Amino acid sequence: MRTTWSFHTAGAIHFGRGATDQLGEIARELGASHALVVTDKALVKAGLADQVQSRLASGGMRVTLFDGGEPEPSIAALLRCHDFASRHKPDLLVGLGGGSNMDLAKTVGVLLTYGGEPRDYMGEGKVPGPILPLIAVPTTAGTGSEVTHAGILTDTENNIKVAIASNYLRPRAAVVDPLMTVTCPPKATADSGIDALTHAVEAFMATDSSHLEIPEGEISIYQGRNPLGNAMVEPAVSLIASHLADAVRDGRNLAAREGMHLAALIAGMGFSNVGVGAVHALEYPIGGAVHCSHGCGNGLLLPYVMEFNKPARVEAVARLAELMGLPVEGLSVEAAADAAIERVRALRKEIGIPDKLREIGVEEHQLRSFAEAAFGIKRLMRSNPRQATVDDLEGILQAAF
Ligand SMILES: NC(=O)c1ccc[n+]([C@@H]2O[C@H](COP(=O)([O-])OP(=O)(O)OC[C@H]3O[C@@H](n4cnc5c(N)ncnc54)[C@H](O)[C@@H]3O)[C@@H](O)[C@H]2O)c1
Ligand SMILES: [Zn+2]
Repeated sequence: MRTTWSFHTAGAIHFGRGATDQLGEIARELGASHALVVTDKALVKAGLADQVQSRLASGGMRVTLFDGGEPEPSIAALLRCHDFASRHKPDLLVGLGGGSNMDLAKTVGVLLTYGGEPRDYMGEGKVPGPILPLIAVPTTAGTGSEVTHAGILTDTENNIKVAIASNYLRPRAAVVDPLMTVTCPPKATADSGIDALTHAVEAFMATDSSHLEIPEGEISIYQGRNPLGNAMVEPAVSLIASHLADAVRDGRNLAAREGMHLAALIAGMGFSNVGVGAVHALEYPIGGAVHCSHGCGNGLLLPYVMEFNKPARVEAVARLAELMGLPVEGLSVEAAADAAIERVRALRKEIGIPDKLREIGVEEHQLRSFAEAAFGIKRLMRSNPRQATVDDLEGILQAAF
């Protein structure tokens, strides 16, 4: 039985409306003089890249812009970004965007610092040491990548999402400004927001730290359920239940945007230390095959996996009902747990996330191979609170089909 756990996050977190104004100073404190902003064309069009560039420039930085980011970035996008960055030789990376651009910045940081190929670093703990300083500026409220250890890429040859996972990928600074999410379109708001809920719920239900079985000689960034992780993900669940639907309905609702940005941040702090489970494991092959967004795939699967995991964690699921503000007085634990799952279904419906895999282009004959691929992602499956066989995972997918 393990008796210790550890906790890592970004080097500094700057939160609140207008936090981006501090970018120049933050960059200077990191000793930088030439920043490469890694972003995409939608964020240039929304005027956010301009804002970030001018804040950095006013801090005395030379600024170069890479706008070739793409949703769920492919390994090819990483190589293009690396090629661009190698020519410009920045001493600071600024990941501006949702998880996609922040992950691109993290993974390009690995290649710029250590050379080699993306595949050299895939999996856990393969990054040998610190990478080029990185500031993350999230423009979605979802992935928590601004504080996490992961850089997720799409392997288009093998149709699966892959991860470079290392505590060295945690940004030196996260600048979490709700004003940067106002232009985020409703679908990206919904998808990324339900991803944050999935992070919080999966971490809240995860295998206890003391029972997490890490094979001899293996590194695990995920430490299992622990009190500090819970302290992060419990309020995240409440914030998302209060604010996600409002943020999708009216992107200019700043209270909702701020609540969601805080929720995504703390859910990221929590899950990236505790772990996520079968929802994420199943989404990797599904997203890789049908190219749904990560959040959409996760949101679709979440209630089905909660249902499967409920017997192992009925009290935790019941507690989620309370955290989401449901009236649970007088309900049995079982009934409260069912109410929590129902609430997730209702929220998902309200924000337009589909309920069935067939609606996102999955075909029935693919289910077995998805279950097999998910089963193989041990770093995720061992944090899932109920041990699942390939048949169990296929059963979840059948129910969701
Ligand atoms: N690193 C991690 O810990 C982690 C965790 C979860 C997910 N992910 C990964 O993150 C990616 C998904 O990230 P995401 O959900 O944040 O979405 P995203 O980064 O893919 O963005 C979705 C779309 O919304 C646009 N957009 C984002 N913010 C905007 C804004 N403020 N204004 C206008 N347009 C905006 C983007 O340009 C993009 O086209 C996936 O690849 C997923 O696997 C990473
Ligand atoms: Zn996720």
